[in-house]
Amino acid sequence: MEYLKITGGRKLQGSIDIHGAKNSVLPILAASLLVNGESVIHNCPDLSDVTYTLRILQKLGAQVKREGHTLTVNTSVITGDTVPESLMREMRSSIIFLGALASRMGSASVYLPGGCEIGLRPIDLHFFGLRSLGYNVRFDGSNICLRGDKAAANRIILSFPSVGATENIILASVFLEGTTTVINAAQEPEIEDLCRYLNAAGAKIQGALTPVIEIEGVRSLHSVTHTVIPDRIEATTFLCAAGITQGEAELHHVCLSHLTAVTGLLQEAGAQLYLDSHAIRIRCRNRLKRLKNVATMAYPGFPTDCQALFGALMTTASGTSVITETVFENRMMHVPQLRRFGADIDVKDRIAVIHGVKALHAADAVCTDLRGGAAVVLASLAAEGTSTVKNIRHLDRGYEHIERPLCSLGAAVTRLNDEE
Ligand code: UD1
Repeated sequence: MEYLKITGGRKLQGSIDIHGAKNSVLPILAASLLVNGESVIHNCPDLSDVTYTLRILQKLGAQVKREGHTLTVNTSVITGDTVPESLMREMRSSIIFLGALASRMGSASVYLPGGCEIGLRPIDLHFFGLRSLGYNVRFDGSNICLRGDKAAANRIILSFPSVGATENIILASVFLEGTTTVINAAQEPEIEDLCRYLNAAGAKIQGALTPVIEIEGVRSLHSVTHTVIPDRIEATTFLCAAGITQGEAELHHVCLSHLTAVTGLLQEAGAQLYLDSHAIRIRCRNRLKRLKNVATMAYPGFPTDCQALFGALMTTASGTSVITETVFENRMMHVPQLRRFGADIDVKDRIAVIHGVKALHAADAVCTDLRGGAAVVLASLAAEGTSTVKNIRHLDRGYEHIERPLCSLGAAVTRLNDEE
């Protein structure tokens, strides 16, 4: 099993490029099923979740080629509508294949997806959206079966702006005659990226980045070239890495407007930021200040995916910070791991009260989930001495070799294998 050895206490310094967004590339790859031809997708990060998604596409008959960060997916011939249980279980976002197969094949058979254990993660809103479009969706507790003989455009009001449900509805309605309207749609930039990809292939979708998205049905989609947006969560991770080590870093290939909530909080905590539309420089000369009251929200609010990262950052800030998780019910699993480094954190329900300590010490810790794992890496970077971080398969789902950009910034991080 691979693990990271991190010798902390070094102030990070240097410049790195941010990769393409995981949460964009996964739905875009599923959406490639709607194209009768070739999708050339640039800026695709090399992540295990991307590899699993490509395996699903290949299983369905697509031809896939990877050259560096460019993926070419030929979906001229699709032969199946069934995603096997083994592939569905690898990641939560595989549920997006339901909407894509609905459009391409008019039917789908998939298993209940797996993924991070950060909450119950129900899929009732996905079912509600697809059923509102007239799809017959049956679920026997493990297998989901969809038939689309009576599918038709509709007006759908979501009770919560779920990212995945919004994406599934968009994918399932691209070919439906008339106009489908999604009200209280998720406004995340990754949804706009999906719509940009689909529109470039011939779809007619308006309203991305707003709560009302309209999809006017078209007959077919054609070959397309698309560049995935930068990963705002990866960018936040490295901003926090510079912050927690009181260092300095320059991040290139970022989209500043996607990071407003994060940069605002970093400035409030005392970080100096120099902002350009595609680059950010962060400098933290002193210990950061506490953040009094932060709560996760749907975009454009403070992202739930950054909650653990800021929780780690605040472990060494001066004063007591309060961070509330409002989106997922079980997203504090990493806290006991942070305590191993000497962090002083109380958790009640979904609220973390973080009493900043002057310094962390080295520890052996594990990744409990993707972003919780990144929080543990942040603690290791700050802690004097040598730490180990195990169970890094979680990190590999969402970070392309996290040790490489960290080493470029001067961190001492090595990936080792305990079987060697
Ligand atoms: C996506 C992101 C994930 C991010 C999350 C919120 C991808 C691949 N993943 O996940 O990184 O943390 O958005 O920004 O893009 N819910 C229901 N019923 C449903 C669907 C969701 O109750 O049918 C609830 C969930 O349990 C959760 C909340 O809605 O409490 C948000 O979930 P959602 O926006 O759907 O997140 P995902 O699409 O799963």
